Amino acid sequence: MPEAHPDAPRSTDAASPAEPAYKALTNHLPEPRFVPLPGYTRVGEAQMLASAEAFYATMDRRRTTRHFATDPVPRRLIELAILTAGTAPSGAHRQPWRFVAIDDPALKAKIRAAAEEEELKTYRDRMTDEWREALHPLGTDHVKEHLTDAPWVVVLFAEKFGLRADGSHRKNYYVDESVGIAAGLFIAAIHTMGLVTLTHTPNPMGFLREVLGRGTNEKAVLVLPVGYPRPDARVPDLQRLPLDAIVQWNA
Ligand SMILES: Cc1cc2nc3c(=O)[nH]c(=O)nc-3n(C[C@H](O)[C@H](O)[C@H](O)COP(=O)(O)O)c2cc1C
Repeated sequence: MPEAHPDAPRSTDAASPAEPAYKALTNHLPEPRFVPLPGYTRVGEAQMLASAEAFYATMDRRRTTRHFATDPVPRRLIELAILTAGTAPSGAHRQPWRFVAIDDPALKAKIRAAAEEEELKTYRDRMTDEWREALHPLGTDHVKEHLTDAPWVVVLFAEKFGLRADGSHRKNYYVDESVGIAAGLFIAAIHTMGLVTLTHTPNPMGFLREVLGRGTNEKAVLVLPVGYPRPDARVPDLQRLPLDAIVQWNA
């Protein structure tokens, strides 16, 4: 599927299938460069099955954790999770994710205070009954101790558009999808290294751009505290949908 976008110029295509006219529209650009697919080794089905089963079993043990120990976590582990997230595919390879990793206790406290102020308003005034009922099984409230207990708080920003040196905007494509995939890889990396995280969406999140000094072309999308679980950590008793509820094979 081409990465068509509503703002893309209309095709001038009227030529033969052999050399459609749109191809000439990029004649002024340098030739794309290609390299052999790096690092790919085809493995047998038995090995694929074994690694797929093992990876699924590992990922099925992942749980969103809301109770963090205060034990420190080396910065290199956070770097590796962010590097892993940065391997995500992205629309037109724009890589529209930016991570702010925070271990400064004063900054975490500032974020917690601002988040709790907003969350209190949300839980008290903004939540519909339907939303309140949906959250009830999770047992959450406006108190966000994970923002100061976890040794790291990683805030994921989506770069809505790029900024060129002259201040003009450079369009990004499929930003939400790309950033969502990066978030998934980050969460998987944190989980497989033996740490836990919480996918937190304080509502609204506008304060984060200000507190963290990010540009107006960025939007905070997730707050991801990272650390070890507290020894008494508990999680809601949830079930995951079975395969037949989430897949259709053919039409
Ligand atoms: C986009 C998104 C936003 C979420 N926001 C919050 C949140 O603000 N606070 C919270 O406690 N959990 C939040 N969660 C975590 C979900 O509640 C959790 O993933 C879900 O209950 C399933 O639990 P599990 O992750 O342990 O499988 C969010 C998850 C996602 C994917």
